[in-house]
Amino acid sequence: MSDQLATLLDEQRRFPPDPAFTAAANATADLYQAAETDRIGFWAEQARRLTWMEPWHTTLEWTAPHAKWFLGGKLNVSANCLDRHLAGPRRNKAALIWEGEPGDRRVLTYWDLAREVNRAANAMKARGIRRGDRVAIYMPMIPEAAIAMLACTRIGAVHSVVFGGFSSESLRDRINDAEAVAVITTDGGYRRGQIVPLKRYVDLAVAECASVTTVMVVQRLAGTASAEAGATMKPGRDFWWHDLLRAASSRCEPEPMDAEDLLFILYTSGTTGKPKGIVHTTGGYLTQVAATTRWVFDLKDEDVFWCTADIGWVTGHSYVVYGPLANGATVLMYEGAPDWPNRDRMWEIAARYGVTVFYTAPTAIRAFMKWGTEHPARHDLSTLRLLGSVGEPINPEAWIWYHSHIGNGRCPIVDTWWQTETGAIMISPLPGVTTTKPGSATHPLPGVSVVLLDTKGVALAKGGGFLALTEPWPSMLRTIYGDDARYQETYWSRFPGRYFAGDGAKVDDDGYWWVLGRVDDVLNVAGHRIGTMEVESALVDHPSVAEAAVVGKTHELKGQALAAFVILKEGNHPTAQLKDDLKDHVARKIGAIAKPDDIFFVADVPKTRSGKIMRRLLKDIAEGRTLGDTTTLADPAVVAKLKDQYESDEG
Ligand code: WTA
Repeated sequence: MSDQLATLLDEQRRFPPDPAFTAAANATADLYQAAETDRIGFWAEQARRLTWMEPWHTTLEWTAPHAKWFLGGKLNVSANCLDRHLAGPRRNKAALIWEGEPGDRRVLTYWDLAREVNRAANAMKARGIRRGDRVAIYMPMIPEAAIAMLACTRIGAVHSVVFGGFSSESLRDRINDAEAVAVITTDGGYRRGQIVPLKRYVDLAVAECASVTTVMVVQRLAGTASAEAGATMKPGRDFWWHDLLRAASSRCEPEPMDAEDLLFILYTSGTTGKPKGIVHTTGGYLTQVAATTRWVFDLKDEDVFWCTADIGWVTGHSYVVYGPLANGATVLMYEGAPDWPNRDRMWEIAARYGVTVFYTAPTAIRAFMKWGTEHPARHDLSTLRLLGSVGEPINPEAWIWYHSHIGNGRCPIVDTWWQTETGAIMISPLPGVTTTKPGSATHPLPGVSVVLLDTKGVALAKGGGFLALTEPWPSMLRTIYGDDARYQETYWSRFPGRYFAGDGAKVDDDGYWWVLGRVDDVLNVAGHRIGTMEVESALVDHPSVAEAAVVGKTHELKGQALAAFVILKEGNHPTAQLKDDLKDHVARKIGAIAKPDDIFFVADVPKTRSGKIMRRLLKDIAEGRTLGDTTTLADPAVVAKLKDQYESDEG
């Protein structure tokens, strides 16, 4: 065991729940017992908290690796997130509180949101969009992003949200893979004071998408900025959102959807060059996101919940939109950068709206740490009562900083492990119940079966190994869109009959889980999943590149950064200019988030006899260190070791 991991597992600090929190908590310790006694019945009980149009006849049908939950049941997601709150006192409650980066503000009550969603649903119908059709959503963080998602669910259309930071080529590939009939976008959005011309990117993408017949454009930019951003409208294909909605009625009957009907597709990076369209269905997904929101974020009617994730990622789907709204909560949404115009922007917003529950990524926390305590200290954060973390391992230092400087030592922290594929939180403390340890996601949630495996698939009681899931869960991915063979191969072949998450983990003597990071060729850069193969494909697409190998290197803020080893084609010369060109090329092919931090021009890359790139060696070179000499929680040496084991056993 490396020193670093030993230190980590030596972490002696314990944070038991505050009895006052426990007394009022949504989650109770007996949930574990109930789930243990009858796991399937336990999930059925959670599902019954939703509003169903028709009851299900079979709770679970499991023919590994294919699960069907709540068979025969019918429901509508938008009706669960909106209509059922309109009859009572929540009708006039804020559903969405939104702030744009330039400082513009909007509040939509449940009534307002329902009206907009109904009108958008009718507008989509008027454009011929039907149940089962796929609709791509490419938007900044504005209320219409959530409205568009909910409107799709109202009519039974399947949304595919594409993160607004992805390039037009990435957008094009995702639209084509899903054969989307429509794209919903904006003329632009704001990021660090700059305009991001989304409609212009959509035009480039859609020019190569035969399936798209409608582009709906929300006008986000005022006056001339809209035209300057290149939002020209193609007659017959492009329509202003406000024109379509003005003509639409504000009553649209929610489509009764089968529990197993597709709800959305969300593309995520895998270990090949081609992103995977993760498929989620209606009843199981909503059941588990609603239940986990209630337990893990402890949401009450008075809360203001701020999940800082972008709608383009699964966290934005499950914990900005569906989970909180299904619970009738108030959600805060912010469009822009955390340091714009100042480094206290987040705390200024949190204080202004009296945010009570705050959920963000370790990358952000490490940036806040670096910026200094004076920024949060300037604001009254006394309304905060619970903090959450997601997306990467959180190092104990960041955990303690978050606890002291944002939570003022009062707020429990929930470190939540889950994935695009799991749909909802799987491993997390229950606030009010669980004693936490800084850096540990603690225990699987009730109803979730997690196991630690060695390379041979033998279950381990403790120590280091691979994280796998042994029983189906309601919000599990159902397949990869259009490629069920890849679904089976990717998740179920490494340890037959069990879902392999791709993460390495440790279980300590007290049975606490410490998720260490990916052991496959997926990197986690600032909490964003990026496949090394995707970046390699983008690099070799450049005319001067013969071969490329991409590895993750430890990064103080981002957790991991990308380092690329590039072999140039004959006649090309390694120059600083070429490095910049290659970085820009990757940004154009994938998006700025995939830009390598470092590019090394090399004559060759080390490979195993079977031709596999020796990534561990490259990683060492990129980090300029010998193994073991590292500083972050997800000890790269340990992960590298697990990774080596994983890869060598794979053959
Ligand atoms: C990582 C984000 C450690 C992990 C919800 C996983 C984490 C990948 C945690 C999924 C956590 C997520 N501790 N690692 N609390 N949460 N991860 O699909 O490697 O964008 O496999 O979903 O993020 O990333 P995804």
